[in-house]
Amino acid sequence: MALVTVSEILQRAEEGKYAVGAFNCNNMEIVQAIIGAAEAEKSPVIIQASQGAIKYAGLDWITGMAKLAAQQAGVPVALHLDHGTSFEQCMQCIKAGFTSVMFDGSKLPLEENIAETNRVLAVARAVGVSVEAELGKIGGTEDDITVSEREAMLTDPQEAKEFVERTGVDSLAVAIGTAHGQYKGEPKLDFERLKEIKSLVNVPIVLHGSSGVPDEAIKKAISLGVRKVNIDTNIREAFTNTMRRVINEKPGEIDPRKILGPAREAAMEIIREKIRVFGSSGRA
Ligand code: G3H
Ligand code: 13P
Ligand code: ZN
Repeated sequence: MALVTVSEILQRAEEGKYAVGAFNCNNMEIVQAIIGAAEAEKSPVIIQASQGAIKYAGLDWITGMAKLAAQQAGVPVALHLDHGTSFEQCMQCIKAGFTSVMFDGSKLPLEENIAETNRVLAVARAVGVSVEAELGKIGGTEDDITVSEREAMLTDPQEAKEFVERTGVDSLAVAIGTAHGQYKGEPKLDFERLKEIKSLVNVPIVLHGSSGVPDEAIKKAISLGVRKVNIDTNIREAFTNTMRRVINEKPGEIDPRKILGPAREAAMEIIREKIRVFGSSGRA
């Protein structure tokens, strides 16, 4: 199959009231782990690449690997830019063949975020690419913040309503208490806020920083309207910890395949587990 858009995948998720995993990739083994997991679970899947991943692997390599993966797969696959912070980056990905982009204007003042999101949307609409935007600030787990600072970062429901009305964006990433990276304690999600946002906007909601969020909290967020769940850190942990274990166990091993192969397996296992939690198994 050719790559499909994230909108197509999320529209079906909305109808079926489940969520689809968006998994970050950096290299061939992780792309294969994502596709292998989606095929084993008969689930639609979103492969996403950050600006850092694109810089590391190269835009054409990421696009080429995802296109090949989709062609060979028997499940719907989308290729999405994660946290694109400029109009130019979004355009480069659209030109290369991404079927979805995130314009992350969360660091911009509201009016600028709306204006830049609309600039990306105008082009994306013309060529059939979907667009995700972010409102509120999803920080990193390393950020040391006070309770009131945290509150100020969370998505304001009325602002979300205005944002969606003035952009017509396809999906919205919200800040409800999750953060990127490894959590120190258990993250506390603001479900009341999520409920209110969902009552005011009629687009699929995206949850970032989902690694390390307990399964029950993820399921509750899905029951309240989350349709795309972003996972990176849990894949990094599975992949890198496995490489480290193999190297420690066999210090003389020099065959990369003997180190990367088990890492790919471990990444695939964790992705399968996530897909089951999100409820998208058997939905391809
Ligand atoms: O949201 C951030 C993702 O985990 C990507 O991280 O920018 O280090 O590739 P990265
Ligand atoms: P984690 O690394 O915390 O899973 O977050 C991933 C993410 O939100 C990518 O956009
Ligand atoms: Zn994110």
